[in-house]
Amino acid sequence: MKLLVTGGCGFIGSNFVRLILTEHPQWQLTNVDLLTYAGNRERLADVEGNRNYFFERIDIADKDRMEDVFARTRPDAVVHIAAETHVDRSIMDSAPFLHSNVIGTQVILDACTRHKVNKMVHVSTDEVYGPAGPEESFDENAPLKPRNPYSATKAAADHLVMAHHLVNGLNVVITRSTNNYGPHQHPEKLLPLVITNCMENQPLPVYGDGMQQRDWLYVEDHCRGILAALEKGKAGEVYNLSAGCERPNLDIIKAVCRTLGKGEDKIRFVKDRPSHDRRYSLDSSKAENELGFKPGPPIEERLGQLVGWYEQNRQWWESIKAGEFKDYYKEAYKDRV
Ligand code: TYD
Repeated sequence: MKLLVTGGCGFIGSNFVRLILTEHPQWQLTNVDLLTYAGNRERLADVEGNRNYFFERIDIADKDRMEDVFARTRPDAVVHIAAETHVDRSIMDSAPFLHSNVIGTQVILDACTRHKVNKMVHVSTDEVYGPAGPEESFDENAPLKPRNPYSATKAAADHLVMAHHLVNGLNVVITRSTNNYGPHQHPEKLLPLVITNCMENQPLPVYGDGMQQRDWLYVEDHCRGILAALEKGKAGEVYNLSAGCERPNLDIIKAVCRTLGKGEDKIRFVKDRPSHDRRYSLDSSKAENELGFKPGPPIEERLGQLVGWYEQNRQWWESIKAGEFKDYYKEAYKDRV
C-alpha cells in the first residue's frame, strides 16, 4: 500500500504517521506538509530514518507541486489531515483558512480523481455541526451549522469532498472528531496552553464563564479511528469519532492545576471568544458499530502522563512559545490577560 498523508507534521498528523509506520511497517508513506507555524518535523524525529517514510515540503493548495507529488508517488490512498485549525486565529484572519482548508482540499480532491486514488479519507471536526443544545448529541445526519471562520471552512471542505464523491465517483470517507489532546500539541490550544502556563506560573485564561463543554478525545484514539475509517469506512459515508468525555473548560483547567500540584490563583476569567460555541457533543455509535472504534480511558486518567510529557519536553514547547507564538499571544490576549 502506498499512502499519502497531508499535514503529517502537525499534531494529529504526526500521531497518525507514527501509528501507520508502527501498525503497517510495510506500507510506503509520503507525508506532505508545508511546515507552517503549526507544523514541526521534530514531532517525527523518531521516524525520520524509516525507509518507508518520505517527506515532501509542499503547500497542498499548490496545484502543480501536488500534481508532481501524486505523479511521482502514485498513492493508493490519501488521508487528508492538513488544515489550519485554530478558531481564535481564524477570527483574527480567515484568509489562510480559506487557502488551506478550502482550496487545499479542492486541489487534493482533483488530484485524487485524476490519479484514480482508491480511497480518500478527509479528517474533519465536530465544529461543523455547530453547538449542541444541553440534551443534544449530533449523529452524522445532523445539519452543518458552523459559526466561526474555521468551522465554516471545514464545513465547506466536507461539502466539497462529498460533491466529488457524487460527481466523480471518488471513494471518500469523512471522519469528524471531537477536541483532541496529547503530547506535541501546539500551545495555542487550551490544554497545552494551560499546562505550560501553569508550569511557568503564568495566568490561565478562561474565556467567558468557563462553562463551555468540549468532548476530549486522546489523539492516539482519534488516529486509530482514522485508520479504521481508511480500512473499513464505506464510500460516501461520514463517521463521528467522540470520546464520550464531555467536560466544562473550567473543570479541565482546575484538573491541570491539581495535577501539577498548583493552586487555582492564576485562573483569570477573560473576555469571551465571539460566537463561542457553548457545547459540542457527538454520537459516535456508527463508528463504534461499523469501524470498531473504541476510545480509551477518560482524560482524568491520562492527565498525569500528559503533564509529565510536557514537563519532560520543556525545550520543545519553550522554543515554540519563544517564536512566532509570542507575537500571536500578545495580540490575541492583549485585552484578556
Ligand atoms: P481550543 O483548544 O481553542 O479548541 P476549540 O476552540 O477548537 O474547541 O479551545 C477549547 C476550549 O477552551 C474552547 O471552549 C475555548 C476555550 N479556551 C479558553 O477558555 N481559554 C483559552 O486560552 C483557549 C485557547 C481556549
